[in-house]
Amino acid sequence: MVTKGKKLYEGKAKILYETDNPDLLIQYFKDEATAFNAQKKGVIREKGVMNNTISTRLFGLLEEEGIKTHFVEKLGDREMLVKRLEIIPVEVVVRNMVAGSLARRLGLEEGRPLEEVVVEFYYKSDELGDPMINTYHIRAFGFAEDEEVESMVTSALRVNDILKKFLDERGILLVDFKLEYGRHHGEILLGDEITPDGCRLWDRETLERLDKDRFRRDLGKIEEAYEEVLRKVMN
Ligand code: TMP
Ligand code: ASP
Repeated sequence: MVTKGKKLYEGKAKILYETDNPDLLIQYFKDEATAFNAQKKGVIREKGVMNNTISTRLFGLLEEEGIKTHFVEKLGDREMLVKRLEIIPVEVVVRNMVAGSLARRLGLEEGRPLEEVVVEFYYKSDELGDPMINTYHIRAFGFAEDEEVESMVTSALRVNDILKKFLDERGILLVDFKLEYGRHHGEILLGDEITPDGCRLWDRETLERLDKDRFRRDLGKIEEAYEEVLRKVMN
């Protein structure tokens, strides 16, 4: 049992609270959603509850497969207990198919499968709108050590293999997703969340979007899409 302490940090979709154990934090999932660097704001009804459950299931799956994550346990509807991380300010994006900013940047149509998995890095900065960076920038600005980058990429590619298979068995295509990592007593752990907020998930048969693109692009039926992912992931 842990006791909830004071608010440590409030982000766009989550709040972190301290606990009586300095190594552990409580991660609270909000219903608020933002897109395009918070220029677009809204609420997705019960998103916090759904994302906490989806994240719990997927972190559990990854832990079973030997991936080191910050997840400890689900505490309630909207809260999970996690290990305290010193966040590395680099977002790791993994892509299996062309979509989103990759489609825009290279003038490609969304939905084309990639011959090889693509890994990209973005500098975590709201003010700058998360600009894309590469390993030279990570090294030059000291965001992470070379071995840490290697460990993040190895982990992210394994996460991709595990999630792709798990979701495929449930009729969902894992198009792309974003991961965040941090340090805990010198060890690199997967942090943040794994939810339709930070993944592109398409229905394998209809190619219907079952993720935050429904909110970003005003496609409607947002709650229904999250509910469908929840149902399939818990199956
Ligand atoms: P992108 O195509 O916009 O670069 O996004 C790639 C994937 O990363 C997509 O699944 C959404 C996710 N993502 C986030 O979760 N947060 C972000 O700030 C960005 C830019 C992308
Ligand atoms: N989550 C980011 C934002 O709030 C970007 C996105 O997911 O589109 O701006």
